[in-house]
This record gives sequence, structure tokens and C-alpha cells, in this order.
Amino acid sequence: MRTFEGVLSKIPAATFAWRSPSNIALIKYWGKREGQVPQNPSLSMTLQNAYTEMILSYEKCSGTAQEKISLEFLFEGKQNPQFAKRIGAFLLSLLPTYPFLANVHLNISSRNSFPHSAGIASSASSMSALALCLCSMERHLCGTLTNEEDFFRKASALARLASGSACRSLYGGWVLWGAHDDFPGSSQEVGIALKTPIHERFQQWQNAILVVQASPKEVSSSQGHGMMVNHPFAEPRYQLANERMKTLVKALETGDVELVAQIVEGEAMMLHALMMSSQPYFLLIRPQTLLLLEKIRQFRHSQGMPVTFTLDAGPNVHLLYPLQVKEKVEEFIVRELIPLCENGLWIKDEIGHGPRPLKIIF
Ligand code: PMV
Repeated sequence: MRTFEGVLSKIPAATFAWRSPSNIALIKYWGKREGQVPQNPSLSMTLQNAYTEMILSYEKCSGTAQEKISLEFLFEGKQNPQFAKRIGAFLLSLLPTYPFLANVHLNISSRNSFPHSAGIASSASSMSALALCLCSMERHLCGTLTNEEDFFRKASALARLASGSACRSLYGGWVLWGAHDDFPGSSQEVGIALKTPIHERFQQWQNAILVVQASPKEVSSSQGHGMMVNHPFAEPRYQLANERMKTLVKALETGDVELVAQIVEGEAMMLHALMMSSQPYFLLIRPQTLLLLEKIRQFRHSQGMPVTFTLDAGPNVHLLYPLQVKEKVEEFIVRELIPLCENGLWIKDEIGHGPRPLKIIF
């Protein structure tokens, strides 16, 4: 194994590329401690169709006394100063881990599979893609991370530092992040693939994203997590999230559709209730969000359909349903839900397999 210092004198140019997915949380992470450590464990479902593709190439440069990052970044083929700034700041923060970053010129180019203005947070997919490219770079330069498990674990740890929920995008299926006594191996630092066998009803869960508002949300997630400091409901919230994690995983294992819906919807409502009861408060749901939720609940009760919903920190609704009822549910979406979506926009997704390296064709 070469050391990081050892590689500085002989840095060969190379290129790496990864596709990494987004994820949607069922048990929400909301509230963090110093160092991107979550206040409570969270559970997510990895998505399949919403992903970022990223190409990172580097060549040796002389380095600077001030230890700066030399970066050119393109998003969907164009300059994007806002994203470039965020990536640059993250890479700078990694210099103690990767001193070689001060001695290379980086070219990073990325694109998202989902529409730019769909209100879908891209930080999980983009930051996990970046973390994977950096781990490939480490492997190439230092001969480390040769074991797949170590590779993805390190990528998850790096992704977490860039955006907490991104650490859950490194694995397919169901991913748990945050230490929980009932889940051996669960960690504050990295996401882990859930080992519990999941009932067939949920194995190919579908996720329709109903876009109520495509414009960016009014509160950044960092601001949102900050609102949990001194929040009157913080402690009971963290305790409940721990209990719900255990109950939800059991319900996913036994195929208890009603209990899964109760917890998943309860988590979505609680996330927004926490925002509405913080100081200052945030109201991110819109009238159409509520109308959608009403229609979904009615559909479930009147037709006995195993559909449930969750919400991210925004007004858009994620409808979740088993593959077995896809046709009926999608008829219902087209008939009743799309009229409530902005410009009729909705995106079909489903539980995904996790990231994969891309072949680069020049
Ligand atoms: O990873 P962040 O800092 O963008 O926070 C994500 C917060 C939620 O999306 C609301 C919940 C979650 O667990 O993904």
C-alpha cells in the first residue's frame, strides 16, 4: 500500500465515472450534531431512476502554498458556479484526509437523470457520486480500498460529510444510517444495507413523485436541521424515531401494509409538524399537497389499495405502492392526482440497486 504522501510525487492522470442514485427516507433524519452526526437513526429506500452520473478526471499540478483546490466543474455541460462552490468547499474540507487534492487539477462533470426543475433534491445522488469518484481516485493512487466493502463504506462516510442523507445512497434496497441498539453494525458515520429480509409486498416498491412545486425549497436542509436545536419537541422526536425504526422494519418484514403506512405517513407528517413548530417556523406544504394526501387516503380506504405516501422537506408527494398494483394505482394517478401537479409533472421511480461504475467512452 502506498501512503498518501508517497503518491504526491508521481500522480498519474486518470478518469473515473459513477452513476449514483437518490434515496427517499421513510424514517426521517432531522436534526444533527457537530460533524454531520445524526440525532436519530433513519431508514431510506434507494431509488432506481433518479440518479447522478459524474465523471472526475485529474492531472498533476504543482500545488499551491495556500492549499487550494483547482477545479473545473460542469453541470449538464454548462458552468454552474453555485454547485462548483459547494463541491470546491467540500473538497477543501477533505484536504486533511486527501492531501493529494492540493496537487491535482480536477475536472468534474455531472448530469442528473431527473428533470432539472422537478423539486427533487439532488444532493444525495450528486454527493454520493462525488464520494465514489474520490474513492476510485484513492484506490488508483494509493492501492487502498481494494475490498468492495471497505470501498463503499469509505464512500458512505465521505458522502455523509458532504450531505448527511447522501451516505444512504451507496447501497441498493433499504439503507439504515445512525446507531440503533437493535441493528448490529448500524453506525453514526456510515449507512449500512438493511439485512432484515423484507416481505415480497415491499420488495419491488414503486415510487411515484407527484410534483406540486418544481422551484427550489425555501429552507435549506442545514437550516432545517439547525431548527431542531432547542426545539421543544426535539427529545421526544429522537426517541420516537428510534422506536419507529424498530417497528417499521418489523412491519416491512412481516408485510404489515397498514402498520407500514401508519409509520411512514406519521414520519412525513411529523417532519412537517417539526418545521411548523420551530422558531422561526416553515410551512413547506401547499394546498395541493393536502389535496393529494386526502385523495390518496380516500383511495386506500375506498378501494383497499396498499398505497402510502411520504414527503421530503418540500411540498412534493412520494406515493409508494407494490409492483402488483402498479396498473390500478397509475390509472388513479393519471385520473385524479396529475391534475393537482404543477404542469402535470410526475416521475415514475422504484426501489433501486444502488450505484454502479460507468464505462468511459472517449
Ligand atoms: O441530507 P440533508 O442534510 O439534505 O437532510 C435530509 C433531510 C430529509 O431529506 C428531510 C430527511 C432524510 O432523512 O432524508
